[in-house]
Amino acid sequence: MKANIVVGGFYGDEGKGRIVGYLAVKDNPHCVVRAGGGPQAGHTVTRGKKVTQIPSGFTNPSSRLLVGRGTIINPAIVLKEIEQFGVEARIGIDYGCTVIEPQHLEQETELVKRIGSVGTGTGPARAERVMRSAKLAKDIESLKPYLTDVADEVNEALRFGEGVLIEGVQAYGLSLLNHKFYPFVTSQDTTASQFAADVGIGPKAIGEIYVVYKAYVSRVGKGSMRFEWTEEQAEQRGISEKGTVSGRVRRLGDFDMDLAVKSMIGNTGTQAAITCVDRLFEGNSGVRDFSKLTDEAKRFLDSVGAHLKSKSPYFNRVALISTGPDSEDTIDLR
Ligand code: GTP
Ligand code: MG
Repeated sequence: MKANIVVGGFYGDEGKGRIVGYLAVKDNPHCVVRAGGGPQAGHTVTRGKKVTQIPSGFTNPSSRLLVGRGTIINPAIVLKEIEQFGVEARIGIDYGCTVIEPQHLEQETELVKRIGSVGTGTGPARAERVMRSAKLAKDIESLKPYLTDVADEVNEALRFGEGVLIEGVQAYGLSLLNHKFYPFVTSQDTTASQFAADVGIGPKAIGEIYVVYKAYVSRVGKGSMRFEWTEEQAEQRGISEKGTVSGRVRRLGDFDMDLAVKSMIGNTGTQAAITCVDRLFEGNSGVRDFSKLTDEAKRFLDSVGAHLKSKSPYFNRVALISTGPDSEDTIDLR
């Protein structure tokens, strides 16, 4: 058995939480594992249900929920989300997760100004980990009931042939290691390989890799963005968005095919998911059958699929299409 991974294809907020929420129910994995990031990565799973630290796979009540050692945690936020979603009995936090402390929030004010960071202390806490002076989850008394070795749990699940779904955060266009995007990036690499390491599995244990795109591009904070819409253009299309964590208005623009290809290749993605098709193309809201999409939407999806296929040898198809905020508003072509 191999673990499937979901990653972002643009600059984050493509709707990964929404897609993981769907896959967790549909594929019924034994465990859903959050990889990487910190409380700066907000996921809207279904209408009004947002998480920043616990896995978006809470949608399946029979899945075990795990937070891998590569994730930076703010214990107060973790505990709040555990309670809010009533997942006390089925969540495990890795002993080795790095902990955010008050000084990390202060240290981030400079980054907020300079590169538009969200300001949750994630980057400075990670820097502290690199300096080998960070506190880990195992040092925090209030987390004791939930502590576990996530790598052991995941590798055992795979050994027994059970399904594992790994939830990546942010996106290819925010990777720390990309010289073109730097310094307007997050504090880690954001590809499938990194997310595998974040939960403690090696590359050979990876199965399907889902790259999630929105039908248009959105970006919170500073940094390059091609085909950005003016306020007027956004108004014409009737689309406006605010950040899940930051509350800031998101910059919007046309689907960036070059970035989509780079991110498919850099992840060795095998499947694509495209969200918010209904927001970009009128008349597609809640459609659950490909044949019922408008011609315009079909043409767009077919051309994205054909283009990705022509560029990436690992890519199979646009497997998931989302046409509304609820899990059921999904076209599943797998
Ligand atoms: P990730 O960080 O990638 O998990 O996404 P996010 O939750 O930050 O993404 P975003 O804020 O863009 O998505 C949030 C809003 O869009 C939520 O209210 C979702 O329920 C909703 N949403 C997600 N997919 C779709 C879709 O296909 N159509 C519509 N209309 N709304 C969607
Ligand atoms: Mg988000």
